[in-house]
Amino acid sequence: MSTVQKIKGFADMFSPESDAFTFMEGVGREVFGSYGYTELRTPILERTELFKRSIGDETDVVQKEMYTFDDRKGRSLTMRPEATAGVMRAYIEANVHAQEQVAKLFTFGPMFRYERPQKGRMRQFHQINCECLGPDEPYADAEVILMLMTFLTRIGLTELSLEINSLGCRECRPQYNAALKAFFAGLDAGALCEDCRRRMETNPLRVLDCKVPGCKALTKDAPTIVEHTCAVCTDHHAKVLAVLDRAAIPYVQNVRLVRGLDYYNRTTFEVVSGSIGAQASVAGGGRYDGLIRQLGGPDVPGVGFACGMERLALMLGERTVAQPDFFIAILDPAGLETALMLAQTLRTAGRTGETAFAAKSMKAQMRQAGRKNARKVLIIGGDELANGTVVVKDMASGEQAVVPVADIAAHV
Ligand code: HAM
Repeated sequence: MSTVQKIKGFADMFSPESDAFTFMEGVGREVFGSYGYTELRTPILERTELFKRSIGDETDVVQKEMYTFDDRKGRSLTMRPEATAGVMRAYIEANVHAQEQVAKLFTFGPMFRYERPQKGRMRQFHQINCECLGPDEPYADAEVILMLMTFLTRIGLTELSLEINSLGCRECRPQYNAALKAFFAGLDAGALCEDCRRRMETNPLRVLDCKVPGCKALTKDAPTIVEHTCAVCTDHHAKVLAVLDRAAIPYVQNVRLVRGLDYYNRTTFEVVSGSIGAQASVAGGGRYDGLIRQLGGPDVPGVGFACGMERLALMLGERTVAQPDFFIAILDPAGLETALMLAQTLRTAGRTGETAFAAKSMKAQMRQAGRKNARKVLIIGGDELANGTVVVKDMASGEQAVVPVADIAAHV
C-alpha cells in the first residue's frame, strides 16, 4: 500500500535537530528572562488583513509567499508568515499599553512561507521572536541587539557578523523615496522585472530588496539612505552604534540592508553566517515605530528581531546532543528486573540513562550503548547477580570496575 508523505518544505524533526531546538528555547528563556522579557503565545492562524496591513502589500511575503485560504464561512485566513504582526495584534487587543509603559515579549513557534525550499529555507520554519514595545529611545534598539548577540553567544555561535543600517523615518523617507524614483527614472526600466517596474512607483525601497539578479545589478549604484536621513535619525543611529562600540560588539554598516518587510524605520539589522550556504541570514530585525498605530492601536513605538531556528540548528550541528550517563546491559535474563530497578534508582538520583529489555548478546548491547552515546555501561551478568555487584565500564577510557549495587550512584 502506498504511504502518505509529508508536504514539500515541511519537516519532521528527530534528534539531534529537535535537541538543538529544545536547547535554543531553554537558553532563550533564560537570556530573554534576564532582560525582563516574558513569553507570549499567539495563534498560528490570523486574518489575512493583519499581514497585508503590517508586512505590506508590495512585499514578496504578502504577494507570493503566504498560505492563505478561506475558512468554511468564506473569511480569508493566513498561516502566520512571521510573529511580529500577531504580537502587535495581541498587544492592541489586550490593551497592554494601558498597563505597561514598556512591554517586552518573546515568542517561539512555527511560521509559514511558500518559498522555494532549499538548505536553510523551509515552507514551515521556526522563529525565536522578541519585541520591545514602548520606548522610542536608541537605547532600546541597542539593548535588543545586545540581547540577540548575548543569546547567540550563549548557544555557542560566535562566528557571525552583524550588519546594521538606518532606514530613516516618516520625515526623511519621502526624500529618499524621491531620490530613488529619480534614479530609477534614469534606468532602462525594461531591464527591471515586472514587479520592480510597479514597485518603482508604489514602493521604491522594495526594488532594492528584489532577489532577481538583473534588478540587483541595475540598482547596485542606487542612492543610499544615509545621504538622506534627517538629523534626528542620524543622531538615533549614532547612539545605537555608540553602545555597540562600548559593548565591543563588532558590526558592519550595510547601507543596502532594507529588509523584506515594510514596517521598518530607523534601525534595521541582520546577523549573517558564513558557514551555512546561500540562506545566510540567521536573524533579522529593527525598529517599527508607527506599526501599532497603523493596525488601529495607540501610537506606541517598538523594536525587535527574529532568529530562524532551522538556520541556527544547522550551525549548531550535533553540538547539543545530550549524552546519557548510563546504559545497563544484561547478560542473564534473571537480571532484567534488577536492571529496571537499578535504572529507576539512578534516575531518582538525577542520572539519565536506559536499560536493555532483553538479555541479548554482549556485542549487540555494547553496540546499542555506543549508539546511545552513554558515558558508562553497567553490565549485569550471572556472577554480578549472585554477588550483588555491577561491572561499570567507562566508555571513553575503556576502564572497568566491579562495584557493589548499593554504591552505584557514586560511580555513574
Ligand atoms: P525576517 O527577516 O523575515 O524577519 O525573518 C527572520 C529570520 O527568520 C530570518 O533571518 C531567517 O533566519 C528566518 N527565516 C525566514 N524565512 C525562512 C524560511 N523560509 N526558512 C527558514 N528560515 C527562515 C521577520 O520575520 C521579522 N518579523 C523580524 C522582526 C521581529 N522584526 C522586528 N521584530
